[in-house]
Amino acid sequence: MIDFNMVRQYNFPTIIRFGVGAIKELPEHLKANGLLHPLIVTDPVVRQLGFFKEIVDSISIKSISVEVFSGIHKNPVKSDVIKGGEMFQAAKRDSIIGIGGGAAMDVARAIALRINHHRDLFDYDDLIGGDKYVTKEIPYFITIPTTSGTGSEVGRSAIISEDDTHRKRILFSPKLLAKIVFADPSLTMDLPPSVTAATGMDALTHNMEAFLAKGFHPMADGIALEGIHLINGSIVDAVNKPDIESRSKMMIASLMGAVAFQKGLGVVHSLAHPLSSLLDTHHGLANAVNLPYGMQFNVSGSEDKFRRIARTMELKEETGEAVVKHLFDLNQRMDMPINLHNIGVREEHLETLADLAFADFCHPNNPKPVSRADFRKMYGEALSFSV
Ligand SMILES: NC(=O)c1ccc[n+]([C@@H]2O[C@H](COP(=O)([O-])OP(=O)(O)OC[C@H]3O[C@@H](n4cnc5c(N)ncnc54)[C@H](O)[C@@H]3O)[C@@H](O)[C@H]2O)c1
Ligand SMILES: [Fe+2]
Repeated sequence: MIDFNMVRQYNFPTIIRFGVGAIKELPEHLKANGLLHPLIVTDPVVRQLGFFKEIVDSISIKSISVEVFSGIHKNPVKSDVIKGGEMFQAAKRDSIIGIGGGAAMDVARAIALRINHHRDLFDYDDLIGGDKYVTKEIPYFITIPTTSGTGSEVGRSAIISEDDTHRKRILFSPKLLAKIVFADPSLTMDLPPSVTAATGMDALTHNMEAFLAKGFHPMADGIALEGIHLINGSIVDAVNKPDIESRSKMMIASLMGAVAFQKGLGVVHSLAHPLSSLLDTHHGLANAVNLPYGMQFNVSGSEDKFRRIARTMELKEETGEAVVKHLFDLNQRMDMPINLHNIGVREEHLETLADLAFADFCHPNNPKPVSRADFRKMYGEALSFSV
């Protein structure tokens, strides 16, 4: 029996204070590090939640001056980052705290980058070698996840879209890693079931894709397998009858997914990203729906790895087909849509989606090559599949 009401410290890949009550350490941490003028970056929904107000109050009571920036889109865009950076400068801030889901933490990280790096934001795009321009330090940066999904709290990248095209760009540098993470599962207790399911399936996708990604990275593989095990055993409870145990396991496993996916992601994220660009679909939801189809595509050629996934999921049959069936079952047990039609995709979107997926940056790490025709076929199958 694990006591999640105890705060533990992990120093990998940065300092992680994990457990119920970790958030209470934030004000003292700021004081101890002389950070008396933080900018908190969050989203407009989280800003209204009770726990957020409590966090702000707990800091203010220590004579620390707090400014909050929450002007961010559901799929954050460059102008959000510019505005946040302006607020940081105008209000003379000395540190940045990202509190929220992946969207808020990514914007917080991109603002942190922006403060001492003044080229066009997308000059820092990793895919065009932009990390070489990240030469200066960033302000003291803290992350506080309130969803269990992206693992952005331990990430070194920020996914920000272009304002006009909505194309996702990835800003990356090892310098963008948070100095410390306060991962407190109690902050996720009021996360609604549909968001818990969508973000949780994103975390499962990270762990599965990282494990399957090509390349030799046994450390990432070990973390990913344990992440799959934890999520598989807790996601349905976290959605349907949440308690501290299930929410805690989801929180640490989502963070593990992000540690593992430095090995790479794959076909599922490439299927998912165009849905966010074209239809503004939530990142986790897009992954959840596409996960079984992408995994079905990957089974042949990776039979041995699927056997290991099936084993860690404790499935009766240790095959890729059993894993795929189980993923459909998971979605159904959490009332998630199981085809693309149910999330607003129509036949006329499929060609554009296939173009965008083929151009996406994730699938080069997929265990086997994926062609544009493969993407078109997967989208076609996923459009109106029924079980
Ligand atoms: N940096 C990375 O490595 C990385 C990886 C994957 C995805 N992403 C990005 O992360 C974003 C998605 O993040 P996400 O899945 O966490 O979703 P999100 O940040 O969009 O949050 C989902 C919803 O839940 C709400 N919410 C957050 N915490 C809550 C709480 N405790 N209680 C109630 N409501 C709460 C938010 O306001 C929002 O409406 C996308 O922009 C995606 O591109 C980043
Ligand atoms: Fe993801």
